[in-house]
Amino acid sequence: MAKHVNYREDVAGRANVEDTEELLAYYGELSKFDAGALWTVANKIEPWEPKSQSVPMVWRYRDLREHVLRSVELVTPEKAGRRVIYLNNPGRSDVAAAVGWIYAGLQVMKPGEVASAHRHSASAIRFIIEGSGAYTVVDGHKMTLGANDFVLTPNGTWHEHGVSAEGTPCIWQDGLDIPFVNALEANFYEVHPDLGQKVAYEVDDMTKAWGNPGLRPMGEQWSKGYSPMFKYEWLPTYDSLKKYASASYGSPYDGLLMEYLNPVTGGPVMQTMGASMQMLRPGEHTKAHRHTGSGLFHVAKGAGYSVINGKRFDWREHDIFCVPSWAWHEHVNSSASDDACLFCLSDLPAMRALGLYREQGFGDNQGHQPII
Ligand SMILES: [Fe+2]
Ligand SMILES: [Fe+2]
Repeated sequence: MAKHVNYREDVAGRANVEDTEELLAYYGELSKFDAGALWTVANKIEPWEPKSQSVPMVWRYRDLREHVLRSVELVTPEKAGRRVIYLNNPGRSDVAAAVGWIYAGLQVMKPGEVASAHRHSASAIRFIIEGSGAYTVVDGHKMTLGANDFVLTPNGTWHEHGVSAEGTPCIWQDGLDIPFVNALEANFYEVHPDLGQKVAYEVDDMTKAWGNPGLRPMGEQWSKGYSPMFKYEWLPTYDSLKKYASASYGSPYDGLLMEYLNPVTGGPVMQTMGASMQMLRPGEHTKAHRHTGSGLFHVAKGAGYSVINGKRFDWREHDIFCVPSWAWHEHVNSSASDDACLFCLSDLPAMRALGLYREQGFGDNQGHQPII
């Protein structure tokens, strides 16, 4: 019999059964039939509030960049499949997650390289960090990519990444819901029979057709569960944030935060994962709040720090940090003259769709966490 553990709590309504000789014998009998008494584990499996296994942390780009570039000499995309250094949250090593149910990695490609086309049930967002000439082909649609642009490769779409021969080495952040889809035991993976796709449309057609603010192309039909606007560009995003900043104070908790949308539904870009970009004005210090859902932040611009569960994490351009579910967080732009922009990949669409979203403001201390 496995070692018996009894999770007792001396609170009305919670399980609090003391062990007796008779009960221990009874638990032993149950275990022989692969069964157990709920009251011994109920307090563990139903915590009072979410208890994330993820550790709040920052991955500094200056620490990782040269190691990412070194992988170019060590492995080929042909052999590695994808040449990626993944972000391993110490609390989530068992599922290879960067935070919660989100996987993330830094991928590098040389000019002229192409990774083989494939598709899987997991959805991905590829956020470009540096380099020129990067492109992704999604179901025959070729999207060209520059720094701080991102491209969707939603579940079930054929996709391949490459860098044109005239380009420079490109590094980007991959973010996928692999751990989530694996947790649901629903992940399939297929390699394209030809290892590559034919480009079947005008380059960047989906963003040109669907990415115009306030305008929907007449006659174009789209009924898939993800956005037809496969690529979201940095410059129009940054422009929009600046316009928003001139018109609104935004939120005390998030500063000026804009969510990337599926232009057909007005909902998130994909069903399981979403993305947002938030701008912190010079010197802005947001109030702390917490909510369900995990966030992986990528510093698109600027420098500052975030306080997560009472601990300070400094960041600057292209650093990545995570905010686990239900962790208190507030962000600070350290610059007195420049804005800072944080890209966030999150599982909020899944949280909302499943009715699990909850949010709370940090009431004490004028809304700021004491730093531990
Ligand atoms: Fe993929
Ligand atoms: Fe938040």
